[in-house]
Amino acid sequence: MSLYVVFEGIDGAGKTTQAKALEKYLKKENYKVFYFHEPTTTKAGKLVKEMIREGTIYGNDAISLAFALDRIMFKYEVLNHALREYDVIIGDRSFYSSIVYQKTMGLDLKWLKEVNRFVIVPDIAFVLEISIEEQMRRRGESDIIFEKKSFQEKLIQEYKNLLSYFPNYNIIFINGEDSIENIHQQIREIIKKYLK
Ligand SMILES: Nc1ncnc2c1ncn2[C@@H]1O[C@H](COP(=O)(O)OP(=O)(O)OP(=O)(O)O)[C@@H](O)[C@H]1O
Ligand SMILES: [Mg+2]
Repeated sequence: MSLYVVFEGIDGAGKTTQAKALEKYLKKENYKVFYFHEPTTTKAGKLVKEMIREGTIYGNDAISLAFALDRIMFKYEVLNHALREYDVIIGDRSFYSSIVYQKTMGLDLKWLKEVNRFVIVPDIAFVLEISIEEQMRRRGESDIIFEKKSFQEKLIQEYKNLLSYFPNYNIIFINGEDSIENIHQQIREIIKKYLK
């Protein structure tokens, strides 16, 4: 079985940067590595992308279900097999994103957990934490509207809440405002222990 690692955090937190850096490093060390991001490549993944386009008629109930369906379809189409064939699976977002985002959008935690009960739980989730100010610097958006800002603030809090929502899961918080290289080193050190 592979080590299944996911990267989490608000938009611009550095998930893709760190996921790709880890992939590159592990491949150099001769591990078989499989990277994917959510929404995935399934039919439901395409549906999710259509559903979350601006001006969509769909509410968060429908969107949550589509995300969960994508995750489950991906499990059958790709992940189950990849878990047998690769040493490390790297996920760029996961069901934790659904919990955090959809709960912030007002959906019930218990229902969200239920809808996602068939997912494969990652061995490690790295949550990259950045402030809204840092997010704005990275995106170059100085005129971010108030609602958007308070929404991002709620997301930051909901990421912290994951610890209490899933006390038995391995969720590791990392200061995402550290340098790209320092974060990568920290992640490497943690991963190394699991690969021994
Ligand atoms: N530790 C860091 N310090 C400074 N800048 C960073 C750091 N990590 C990533 N960045 C920069 O911030 C931007 C967003 O990074 P990245 O695309 O990796 O974030 P993300 O979490 O994948 O975002 P999204 O949720 O939009 O996919 C990029 O321009 C990236 O180069
Ligand atoms: Mg990304």
